[in-house]
Amino acid sequence: MGKNQSKKTNLLFFNNETTNNDLSIFDRANKKYTILTYGCQMNERDSEIIGGILEGLGYQPSEDITQADLILFNTCSIRDSAERKIYGKIGEIKRLKNNNPDLIIGVAGCMAQKDREKIAKKAPHVDFILGTNNLHKLPELITRAKNSKETLIDIVEERAEIENEIEENRSKLTTQKIKASVNIMYGCNNFCTYCIVPYVRGREKSRPFKQIIEEIEQLGKEGVKEVTLLGQNVNSYGKDLGENIDFADLLAAIDNIPGIERIRYMTSHPRDFSDKLIQVIKNSSKVCEHFHLPIQSGCDKILRDMNRGYTTSQYAILVEKIRQSNPNASITTDIIVGFPGETEEDFEETLNFIKKIKFDQAYTFIYSRRSGTPAANLPNQIPLETKKQRLQQLISVQNEISLELNKNYIGKTVEVLVEGTSKNNPEKLTGRTRTNKIVIFSGDQQLTGQLVMVKIDKAKTWTLEGKILKD
Ligand code: 5AD
Ligand code: SF4
Repeated sequence: MGKNQSKKTNLLFFNNETTNNDLSIFDRANKKYTILTYGCQMNERDSEIIGGILEGLGYQPSEDITQADLILFNTCSIRDSAERKIYGKIGEIKRLKNNNPDLIIGVAGCMAQKDREKIAKKAPHVDFILGTNNLHKLPELITRAKNSKETLIDIVEERAEIENEIEENRSKLTTQKIKASVNIMYGCNNFCTYCIVPYVRGREKSRPFKQIIEEIEQLGKEGVKEVTLLGQNVNSYGKDLGENIDFADLLAAIDNIPGIERIRYMTSHPRDFSDKLIQVIKNSSKVCEHFHLPIQSGCDKILRDMNRGYTTSQYAILVEKIRQSNPNASITTDIIVGFPGETEEDFEETLNFIKKIKFDQAYTFIYSRRSGTPAANLPNQIPLETKKQRLQQLISVQNEISLELNKNYIGKTVEVLVEGTSKNNPEKLTGRTRTNKIVIFSGDQQLTGQLVMVKIDKAKTWTLEGKILKD
């Protein structure tokens, strides 16, 4: 979900280990940083960690990039479109460096991991390139960058557990936050043939159970109401820990943590969604009835070529089980159009499948050829025009379904976690249902962070509208 946004992070550094790299008292006065975050929620969480590290060094966040002494790109390489956008922006800020030679520019994230030399060559004004597995090296790189004319590169291929915990512990929220993301595992072992993630994020590594629980207990104490557990494939949680603990056990334990009202998770692989997990979710009061299960294609031949490890009928059985145990469940998905070899008939199968399943929402993508992945070398790459047409067709079919399902909410009363004022209409409040539907309604801003009951009176493709119930 290619989001392009600059993100302000409000974090406090509370680890003393980097004293040697600290800024001098004089430097501490004015240094500002801006992080430009691209890509998924895991990158957003990494940006919080980076923000925590920088604030520990005395930097203050600035939303105005022209005021920044340090600009850090946290990059995404899932699709070519994201990469092009980022290269464009890196090129654009060269002029800031011309105006302020002391400005430090860093590139982190998936593109840094994948294209280190290319970035250094294409954008020599970048001071350092930092990989996805060693964010804790940031202070050292900043210090070295001040005394170096070369683009510095610091990348390791695999993550070490000790480093994970140093990084995770470095960020501590200072502002009241309603929702927080918690990494539960890193990397991916699935090697879907189109996907670059296993190459840039490395092999699956679960965080220790106890550390996750302690982190969420702390968040609960700080007033966080909703946690989203993050991993490329959360259903694999625990497999590498050797402790006989799986994702269902983790959810069951988090369900008991005081203060936390809602638990979400991203992303789960349909192949690994166990009956035990469905049962734990059914019995839990806090795990939300929203199931994001990327199908990727509704055609068995394409699913096989994608190496997804399930068929459309296995997927449909899973959805049936979920709907039986959880009649209110919302089910969302990711779909790629124009995978190599996808014929008109194959695409029709996808259209028919989404009509049959009736997803609440689908995040739809044009297949992007990622060099180094098996699918990049497949014959019968689909022309861009065809891919664009298929995308439009898919979106219009899905939009009708989304609207139809949203209309079922009219007249119902739903629990909404109030997130604040609506961006599109500052007169109104916005929040989400447990099923992850956005709800717009009138109410007092003071309700932000609270659970309220809203009676739905209007449904649109992407949002619901309603009136808050007073009692
Ligand atoms: N091209 C297009 N979409 C992709 N995704 C992953 N790799 C690619 C690619 N090469 C999509 C998948 C995944 C989502 C996060 O991004 O649908 O679920
Ligand atoms: Fe990519 Fe597949 Fe892993 Fe998801 S499960 S990150 S699509 S390789």
